[in-house]
Amino acid sequence: MLENSKNILNDARMNNYAIAHFNINNLEWTRFILEECDRLKTPVILGVSESAIDYMGGYYTVANLVKSLISDLKINIPVILHLDHGKKVESCIKAIDAGFTSVMIDASTYPITENIRMTKKVVEYAKKHNVTVEAELGHVGSEADKSLIPELYTEVDAAKKFVEETKIDSLAPAIGNAHGLYNGKIELDFERIKEIAKITNVPLVLHGASYIPDDMLKKAVKSGINKVNINTELQIAWANDVKSFIEQNQDIYDPRKIIKAGEKAIKSIIKQKLEILNRN
Ligand code: G3H
Ligand code: ZN
Repeated sequence: MLENSKNILNDARMNNYAIAHFNINNLEWTRFILEECDRLKTPVILGVSESAIDYMGGYYTVANLVKSLISDLKINIPVILHLDHGKKVESCIKAIDAGFTSVMIDASTYPITENIRMTKKVVEYAKKHNVTVEAELGHVGSEADKSLIPELYTEVDAAKKFVEETKIDSLAPAIGNAHGLYNGKIELDFERIKEIAKITNVPLVLHGASYIPDDMLKKAVKSGINKVNINTELQIAWANDVKSFIEQNQDIYDPRKIIKAGEKAIKSIIKQKLEILNRN
């Protein structure tokens, strides 16, 4: 069942656990994620970046792919189809028109007034279509682009103002998290998560959750995180297994066999992450 994120994220907030967001890159990834989450009877958020949408063909292709897989594979869990890091208001509108049930407007590189203006526009359109909206305040960068600095962490009072004015459904704060690989020591500001969660009263989203150690992830969820975004860790696990499959099977050229060589790795990480994030 495709639905927006309201019920599942609010339930996660009320009961202090988190829903996993896994990014999809193609048909096979979508299938692996849906199958494993369905097997474990756990709702899932399928995140699709603008570049992944371009890669797969477009917004309608992605929406129809996900809907068709849910139907053909008889997936029986709540599934949220979410635009990840929509950089423009127009991207969010395109996603909503195509049938995405949730969008993220990421105007976090703009000053807060512009971030609020763009986010409000998306919320206004999304509400009319029963689509939920996530937005980012502060900036979650990557260690590579040197944006992992406390100056870009989300200010608690600004978060309150931002959520009140925009009326978003969930907030992605910058609290020491970063996209991609962490080269240095990972230090999340748990106190800041708690304060933001308390003052905003909306589910909080942890971006860049790949490779965050299990105990830290659990602590982040306990502090107020209700959605956890994972991409890089799945990509690296998949790529490692595919590379060794190719090395060991030089005569195989069937793309189905090659892509499928990474299935086990993806499914085993999904299982492991769901165990960490779920309330049981
Ligand atoms: O929006 C996507 C996530 O924040 C993924 O981050 O690639 O570091 O796991 P990650
Ligand atoms: Zn992200």
